[in-house]
Amino acid sequence: MNAPTPVDEAGPDRIAGPDVVDLGAERRATGIDDYLAGLDARLVGLTPVKQRIDEIAALLLVDRVRTRVGLATGPPTLHMSFTGNPGTGKTTVASAMGEILHRLGYLRSARVVSVTRDDLVGEYIGHTAPKTKDVLQRAAGGVLFIDEAYYLYRPENERDYGQEAIEILLQVMEEQRDDLVVILAGYADRMERFFGSNPGFRSRVAHHIDFPDFDDGELVRIGEMLLADQQYRLSDDARATLFDYVGRRRSQPHFANARSVRNALDRARLRQANRHVTAGTVAVDDLSVIEADDLAVSRVFNDRPDDARESR
Ligand SMILES: Nc1ncnc2c1ncn2[C@@H]1O[C@H](COP(=O)(O)OP(=O)(O)OP(=O)(O)O)[C@@H](O)[C@H]1O
Ligand SMILES: [Mg+2]
Repeated sequence: MNAPTPVDEAGPDRIAGPDVVDLGAERRATGIDDYLAGLDARLVGLTPVKQRIDEIAALLLVDRVRTRVGLATGPPTLHMSFTGNPGTGKTTVASAMGEILHRLGYLRSARVVSVTRDDLVGEYIGHTAPKTKDVLQRAAGGVLFIDEAYYLYRPENERDYGQEAIEILLQVMEEQRDDLVVILAGYADRMERFFGSNPGFRSRVAHHIDFPDFDDGELVRIGEMLLADQQYRLSDDARATLFDYVGRRRSQPHFANARSVRNALDRARLRQANRHVTAGTVAVDDLSVIEADDLAVSRVFNDRPDDARESR
């Protein structure tokens, strides 16, 4: 057998020689792992999304090292699209992207400026360009998150100022791609149509990240985390009822994943408070407990899904 090469001997304490770069040490130096571990703990599920974030982190790490050792390397394009159903965590993850890309040395700021069409497009002639440029200036060096990006494009209006905003955005996405990351977000089918009508956007977006619906167990865990943040918890029966709830709620109109759970639990807290006030006294421990009944009176358990009217 050949003598092992230094790479074969590599252990955790290995000191990288001049021919080897210790990417683990590089990664630790960014502090990104602490941040991602925190995000992982805070965000239930979303495994494919977390994997894509890891891939982007790896790409940027290798890119930094390549730059340092003098290899040809243009800064990678990092504009992204986030597609998924309501309440699947798109806005939540976008707000973490600034921090992630800043820690990895790609962006000079961790700031995320979040906008929709109305922040970019004016109502009168001459208003759109200054509005869009003002937003771009605020976002420069960080992330610009454009929620429901497809509303920018309104082909049915003959003179739509959205087109003007689109042209400015496309230019900046090209020219300032190492100083601004644009994230376009929205529901998958409409985003697909939007990219179809605006190939300029499609070609500038390097990372398309799809946010899956949460399964029932994930929704219950999200609910328990939301409650724990506010020092509430579910009784065992209530946990079973919430499980049942999310299974039914899913097939009713206006289901919005994690947001539907949040809304259901807000209403449960209301019922819990009402129950205690009606009883007149309450054990201190019970102040923190949501019982099955607080959820079970929901209309979702009738066949008249009034709760389905919840707004987003
Ligand atoms: N993976 C998750 N773990 C825990 N809580 C989550 C998770 N994803 C989302 N949430 C919570 O659910 C709520 C809705 O999430 P968010 O606003 O990010 O969804 P969205 O995809 O942007 O929805 P929309 O398309 O309707 O704008 C937020 O309160 C957020 O804190
Ligand atoms: Mg959102």
